Amino acid sequence: MSAKIIDGKLISSEIREELKNEVAALKKEGITPGLGVILVGEDPASQSYVKAKEKACEDLDIYSDNRHIPAETTEKELLEIIDAMNNDPKINGILVQLPLPKHINADKVIMRISPDKDVDGFHPQSIGKMIMGKDTFLPCTPHGVVKLLNYSGVQIEGAHVVVVGRSNIVGKPVANLLLDKSKNGNATVTVCHSRTKNIAEMTRQADILIAAMGKPQFIKADMVKDGVVVIDVGVNRIEDSTRKRGYRLVGDVDFEAVKEKVSLITPVPGGVGPMTITMLMFNTVQSAKLRKDRG
Ligand code: GUN
Repeated sequence: MSAKIIDGKLISSEIREELKNEVAALKKEGITPGLGVILVGEDPASQSYVKAKEKACEDLDIYSDNRHIPAETTEKELLEIIDAMNNDPKINGILVQLPLPKHINADKVIMRISPDKDVDGFHPQSIGKMIMGKDTFLPCTPHGVVKLLNYSGVQIEGAHVVVVGRSNIVGKPVANLLLDKSKNGNATVTVCHSRTKNIAEMTRQADILIAAMGKPQFIKADMVKDGVVVIDVGVNRIEDSTRKRGYRLVGDVDFEAVKEKVSLITPVPGGVGPMTITMLMFNTVQSAKLRKDRG
């Protein structure tokens, strides 16, 4: 791979090797980390994410309780499954794949997950602690972004980070992590979104640009300065008749054009994606360790 490319698969496999050792050590003490994975409905992107999460559990020897339930499942039925997982000692983490069907209130579902098992880091208690810089489960994609920057030797402190996108899952939390007064923070952070006036003027100021707005190839070469570090969180399916499956994945960045100007860039696929799943495994192992320490 080119020296400019941040290889998320490689970094991810290094972290997974460390996790494998941790899982083996826990097993020697009679503890098997466990993840409950709930997928409601048949959204194709969600199905492939969930499959990758289940495979990661298998590879790391983490127990997983996989529930693929129909789109017509009621909110009450889903909440009952979460309650059962909250009370199941074999389960250290619970993941409900988003988005959920419209008749189910996602906020209510997220709040039902015990904060002790909130390995997605989506519960308001986890988010509040994260913003305050307290120990908690960090949301997986933002945490993965920080790890990619660390492994690539990128200086975060003092850098001007521009985040494009303000979702609760990526934009807001990644901005907070990088802003935090901590080892992996101390950046100056600007957050742009769909109502920002002249986004290009903002993105051109970035030392580190994080694209997380879900718009295929939105960031063009004239929107970045020379030497920028680009982290592309976008995963978009665009039609491609040359592919057997009829589509290909692209990020939020026009990769081919932008890569000519960058010092480092993540590809899609193979950049942030594998890290999200790896940090989910990381949180699940942490949760098992915390439970052991609590007794
Ligand atoms: N949907 C898209 N990304 C995520 C994620 O990180 N966790 C969950 N639960 N759902 C998602």
